[in-house]
Amino acid sequence: MNGALLALLHHGSVLACAGPSALARVAGRPGVASRAARGAALRANAAPPVGASREHVGLPKSVLRRGGGGGDGGGAPSVAATGVALSGLPDRSRPFTVLGIETSCDDTAAAVVRSDGAILGESIAKQDAIHAQWGGVVPGLARDAHAAAVGRVVGEALAAAGLSSAADVDAIGVTVGPGLEICLRVGSAHAIELAQRHGKPFVAVHHLEAHCLMARLAARAAAPPGSAEQLPFPFLSLLVSGGHCQLLLCRGVGDYAIIGSTLDDALGEAYDKVARLLGLDVGGGGGAALEAFARRGNAANAPLPVPMARRKDTSFSFAGLKTAVRTRVGKLDGGGSEAERADLAAAFQLAAIAHLEQRLRYALRWCAEQRSAQADAPIGDAADNDGAARVPPLSALVVSGGVAANALVRARLGALCEEHGLAMHTPPPRLCTDNGVMVAWAAIERLALGHSDQAEGTEVRARWPLGAALEVTL
Ligand SMILES: Nc1ncnc2c1ncn2[C@@H]1O[C@H](COP(=O)(O)OP(=O)(O)OP(=O)(O)O)[C@@H](O)[C@H]1O
Ligand SMILES: [Mg+2]
Repeated sequence: MNGALLALLHHGSVLACAGPSALARVAGRPGVASRAARGAALRANAAPPVGASREHVGLPKSVLRRGGGGGDGGGAPSVAATGVALSGLPDRSRPFTVLGIETSCDDTAAAVVRSDGAILGESIAKQDAIHAQWGGVVPGLARDAHAAAVGRVVGEALAAAGLSSAADVDAIGVTVGPGLEICLRVGSAHAIELAQRHGKPFVAVHHLEAHCLMARLAARAAAPPGSAEQLPFPFLSLLVSGGHCQLLLCRGVGDYAIIGSTLDDALGEAYDKVARLLGLDVGGGGGAALEAFARRGNAANAPLPVPMARRKDTSFSFAGLKTAVRTRVGKLDGGGSEAERADLAAAFQLAAIAHLEQRLRYALRWCAEQRSAQADAPIGDAADNDGAARVPPLSALVVSGGVAANALVRARLGALCEEHGLAMHTPPPRLCTDNGVMVAWAAIERLALGHSDQAEGTEVRARWPLGAALEVTL
């Protein structure tokens, strides 16, 4: 039985999360929303029914594998729609600290981050070695490892920040989706319990929003204190991770539109699978292993075709490229020499990155076309729909998610941005893969805008698109 099938079987029996009770402890504190405001905000943020909405078209297989019951459409909660402090707010007249907790897939992570961008403490327990033998993440094993590690990891992050307990932070954020449902439930239940026990404002974090916003923290950290915001909205984001490959228009916190998705595999998933096909040791992560191995090869010795090179759109596809590697490996005598396999690794990487570049060029062209169509439209004709009229002028590209740690991806996309007069922002490599800092920071961005969620009854969302998908035609 292969890993993906195992994962599916394990995941098939998962049920939705039900958060425990007791909002009462925070209800009397200043900044806590009235019952009516809470009700209105909850309605505004209610998950639409499961259905064949466009948002689900083009989701990678890995997401379907990761998804289960409790799927919904929607998107990250819009701060504009729900800008209500359902569980109170920290004192925002001074820098405040947030504990972030992440358990959406195979990393148990926590961090304490201050609202001025200082990372005060972090801890992470990675599970690559646990899953390496299975050919993919096994949800049941991942859940058990999260449950065994989460208390220790949170304690280590607090201790690294010089804090003795969660009572010493000003708020708590946790990833509630998308991801593996049974894994999300571990972190979410832990965070809910801490928030209720210590009466802290609580933020339910969207994992993909956290990946995207991470670049804003990195930009702030790199800038001199007191300087203007380094990465203001709006910007274009390329999210390349283990479960997603998406191009996003990021118009504000909670305001995203998807303008490109993968038709099959996510890029990180393809890196992981190809690393296994090439017989690499994936105990420290398939993507990093493949990147290191590819440095020893020469792509010109075993060139691979760029996926969908003749297709003029913003969709991604990596399944064909992965199959091409499998076919080539199969033709090599005894699986090939190390040099031959390194050439294939280099060729895979080059073709995959060329594909990213091509899709990005189309996306930038489409954005420019939308902008000029808007400029030509008669005054008052601004569309109310979520389409053309809302493509803003873009000054930056953010590349985030685990694959953004890859040096060649960074270099090649950096050059493309320069060509287009765009600034490129990427988190530091170690903060591209899942971590607690991005969760704490996403919570800070929301708290700073006056938003918090009710811990009681918070449910995890295995499938949760970050925004609506726009029709992109060139
Ligand atoms: N240096 C690298 N080069 C290429 N890929 C890499 C590199 N480092 C990590 N990756 C890939 O990044 C992925 C992990 O990223 P991340 O932690 O963001 O994914 P995830 O959380 O599992 O997925 P998602 O964020 O979509 O839910 C893995 O697939 C891994 O192979
Ligand atoms: Mg991730």
